[in-house]
Amino acid sequence: MEIDENAKIVIELRNVKRKFKVGDEVVYALRGVSFAVRQGEFVTIMGTSGSGKSTLLNQLGCLDTPSSGEYILDGVAVRKMSKNQRARLRNRKIGFVFQNYNLLPKTTAIENVELPLMYNSEYSARQRREAAITVLKEVGLGNRLEHKSNQMSGGQMQRVAIARALVNNPAVILADEATGNLDTHTSFEMLVLFQKLYAQGRTIIFVTHNPDIARYSSRNIFLRDGRIVDDKYNDNILSAREALDNLPAEEAFEDSLMEEAAGDN
Ligand SMILES: Nc1ncnc2c1ncn2[C@@H]1O[C@H](COP(=O)(O)OP(=O)(O)OP(=O)(O)O)[C@@H](O)[C@H]1O
Ligand SMILES: [Mg+2]
Repeated sequence: MEIDENAKIVIELRNVKRKFKVGDEVVYALRGVSFAVRQGEFVTIMGTSGSGKSTLLNQLGCLDTPSSGEYILDGVAVRKMSKNQRARLRNRKIGFVFQNYNLLPKTTAIENVELPLMYNSEYSARQRREAAITVLKEVGLGNRLEHKSNQMSGGQMQRVAIARALVNNPAVILADEATGNLDTHTSFEMLVLFQKLYAQGRTIIFVTHNPDIARYSSRNIFLRDGRIVDDKYNDNILSAREALDNLPAEEAFEDSLMEEAAGDN
C-alpha cells in the first residue's frame, strides 16, 4: 500500500502515560505511548484484555486526559484544555461508534443522526435534517429514515451510529469493538462500509479484540501492558466486499431468516 507522506497528521501522541490510583496501589494503564496517524489511514488497535485499548481510546476521544505526555488532535494540544473546551473539540472533531450503538431509545434514525449538530449554530433545523438524511443514505439506510431504534436490526442500528459519527464531518472516526455485537455476515457488511469510508479518505481508528479485522485495515497497532509492541502497515489489505460475497450461503440464508423474524414483531 502507498503511504501518503504528505497527508496531514490528524493524531499525534507523544509519550502519553495514564496511571490510576486504586486504594494504595497505582495502576499504569498506559506507560508511554507515541504514534502519529495521518489523514486517510484506517488503523486497528489490538491487544489482549487489560492492555490499555479503552484507556487509549478515551485519550484519543478527549474523554480523559493523560497523566503526562502530549496529545495533539488536528493541530490542537488537548492536555491543557478545560473540560468545556475538550467537549467542544470532541463534538467537532471526533465521530464515535460504540459496540452497543448508543442510540437514543425510541427515537428515529434521523433524530439520532441530527444529535451532534444540535450544538452547532451553523445549522438551521432544516439543514440538520437534510444533513442527517444525506449521511443515512450514504450508509444504506435511505429506506429506514423514520424507523425508531427499537424497530431496527443490530446492523441497521450500527449504520445509524456510523451516520451519526459522520454527520459532523469529523477529523477522525473512533470505533470501539464496532462489530462486537454483530453476527459474521453483518460484521462484514460493517467492514464493507468502513472500507468505503477509507476509500473516501476518512481517517478511522478501530479498537478490537478480533485479529481478523486487522486484515481489512491499512495499519495495525498492538498494545501490551500499556505499551506499543508492534506497529505495522498492511501491504495486503483484504476486500471486505469479497469476503462478504464468499461467505457460505447457508449463513447468509440464516441471517435473512433472522431478519424476517425480527421484522415480524
Ligand atoms: N478507571 C480506572 N481505574 C483504575 N484502573 C483502571 C481504570 N481504567 C482502566 N484501568 C486499568 O488499566 C488497565 C487497562 O485497562 P483498559 O480498560 O484500557 O484495557 P482494555 O485493553 O480496554 O481491556 P478490554 O479488552 O478488556 O476492554 C487495566 O489493568 C485496568 O484494570
Ligand atoms: Mg476495553
